Amino acid sequence: MAEGESWKDARLVGAYLSGIRGGIPLAQEQVDVALRLIDQAGVPVRRFLDVGCGDGFLGAVLLERFPDATGTFVDFSEPMLQAARERLAPFGERVNIEHADLSGPAWSTALGEGGTFDIVISGFAIHHLTDDRKRELYSEVLELLTPGAFFINIEHVSSRTPWLTDAFDELLTDSFYDHQLASGQDVTRAQVAAEYVHRPDKQENILAPVETQCDWLRELGFVDVDCYFKLLELAVFGGRRAL
Ligand SMILES: C[S@@+](CC[C@H](N)C(=O)[O-])C[C@H]1O[C@@H](n2cnc3c(N)ncnc32)[C@H](O)[C@@H]1O
Repeated sequence: MAEGESWKDARLVGAYLSGIRGGIPLAQEQVDVALRLIDQAGVPVRRFLDVGCGDGFLGAVLLERFPDATGTFVDFSEPMLQAARERLAPFGERVNIEHADLSGPAWSTALGEGGTFDIVISGFAIHHLTDDRKRELYSEVLELLTPGAFFINIEHVSSRTPWLTDAFDELLTDSFYDHQLASGQDVTRAQVAAEYVHRPDKQENILAPVETQCDWLRELGFVDVDCYFKLLELAVFGGRRAL
């Protein structure tokens, strides 16, 4: 299957939204780091873009935090876009949801002519693209940013060694298991490991080291680039467009 194509499957989308998203370790802390940096950038937030939005989990946080902002949400999975329409319905006209495939540069035509964005955010999506395409997408994102504005990528990145990969998989299994038990699901830890952590679409992940991706951002001209948070394979990184 091509990169990320599994996300067009309603069963995987349902499993992600019910059993995985809420169980990502330190997910709230990742969002808190992103919001702190956005505040620090000092750019008034009127328009933002959520790239590979899924059901709009991250963009919904921005809509709550910045009541005058409108958000554009892009994804290529119809079941995810439907979940986004439902989740984001309370925000009415402040939301623009677009079907777009990030695997080529044409995706940005879905954004229309509204100008630049005061935040571009992405969560656990860009690792479905090849490394060449990731880098190209980052250059497209830079062009879409208002001067001074942040691109923040909350992302699954690669481990340095197989031992660290195993440590991360154990962490994920514990975290998803706890989450699913707490939400009343009848599962064993072994089932969680088989169905969520070692699931077949894992081979569609094209993980890259966070250091390499930060280097790409610097080479492209982003400033204040860093990995702002990291827990094994979970990273929050990005940079700003220079003033
Ligand atoms: C793990 S989900 C993350 C969703 C959401 N951003 C979040 O933080 O929960 C990955 C998302 O990336 C989207 N995606 C993967 N490849 C894509 C592509 N080529 N174009 C557009 N969206 C893509 C999937 O459809 C899915 O919604």
